[in-house]
Amino acid sequence: MITYILGDKMQTKILKIDVNNILENKIDEAKDVILSGGLVAFPTETVYGLGANANDKEAIKKIFIAKGRPSDNPLIVHIAYIEQALDYAKNISDEAQMLMKAFWGGPLTIILPKRESVPYEVTAGLETVAIRLPSHPVAHAIIKAAGVGIAAPSANTSGKPSPTIARHVIEDLDGKVDMIIDSGSAVFGVESTVIDMESLQILRPGAISLEDIKEYLPNASYGTGGDTAPKSPGMKYTHYSPKAKVILVTNRDNFSELANKKTAIIAPMAENLKINDAFVLSAGKNNQDYAARLFYLLRKADELGAEVIYAQMPSPEGIGQAVINRLLKASGGNVL
Ligand code: TXA
Ligand code: MG
Repeated sequence: MITYILGDKMQTKILKIDVNNILENKIDEAKDVILSGGLVAFPTETVYGLGANANDKEAIKKIFIAKGRPSDNPLIVHIAYIEQALDYAKNISDEAQMLMKAFWGGPLTIILPKRESVPYEVTAGLETVAIRLPSHPVAHAIIKAAGVGIAAPSANTSGKPSPTIARHVIEDLDGKVDMIIDSGSAVFGVESTVIDMESLQILRPGAISLEDIKEYLPNASYGTGGDTAPKSPGMKYTHYSPKAKVILVTNRDNFSELANKKTAIIAPMAENLKINDAFVLSAGKNNQDYAARLFYLLRKADELGAEVIYAQMPSPEGIGQAVINRLLKASGGNVL
């Protein structure tokens, strides 16, 4: 722990892995780091994750140090095939199994009762464990090769926007982790949907929408955030925050009077806004594009030196709900 306070850096290996040509020797290198108790940042279909052997308490502790993550915020265990969930969770309901079959591999994290063997370092003291089976071929190959679950939060410094490209991981974690894998851009761009199987509540909206889940579980709902739902500890912290101040804008007609040289505008089809005085950053054509670009653009606005980011509120359909959630967090609820 003291190492980082003193500013000593470790040597971080940057390893490129081509998603379309995954070489076994590279996967083995990553596996060796995981199995020897080290940290590997790796791509997933949502955002990059920072992984360690889920069975290794000491390795898990290193994740919290590298990210500066509060120790009461639990991690997701990533697995390579459905049956591996049995190594970490017990009392897996029929409903949970249905969701696994429907949405795994893919961006759904399922909260289940933990097995005794799962270290409390992973679950931050909770009796439940978060499990997800990613679809990204590089993530899948590493987890499969390791033969253990890989506990992994997003691979950013705590509080910053999650990384969707390896360069952003390098900016946050170079010198603090053993290995960073570069496999290009994440696909979805926002983190997985988190669902709690006891309450059937979505604790964090993500790439899989409530409507998608309701096709299988008609009683599923969004967590209220009220006194019955302190269940996703991570959601109480500041999140996704660039250096610039973020303000959400509901009506895009207001951009022209808000824009000036110190501002960045993030909006769908922003190129059509005809604004000269601001950094105009397009969020693409639809909610999928917005999700895929959001974290990238928040960091981009910082690189450009914007002091204020005005971001257009997306429509709430599909992944739009997740984008709204992240923007509300990034802005601390500041909506115009
Ligand atoms: O897409 C993702 O989920 C990415 C990639 C890397 O897989 N991971 C990710 O992890 O976003 P992280 O640590 O940034 O977010 C995990 C969320 C946090 O809000 C945490 O509080 C919640 O899941 N969580 C984890 N375990 C939980 C549990 N047992 N009960 C309730 N919430 C839990
Ligand atoms: Mg995170």
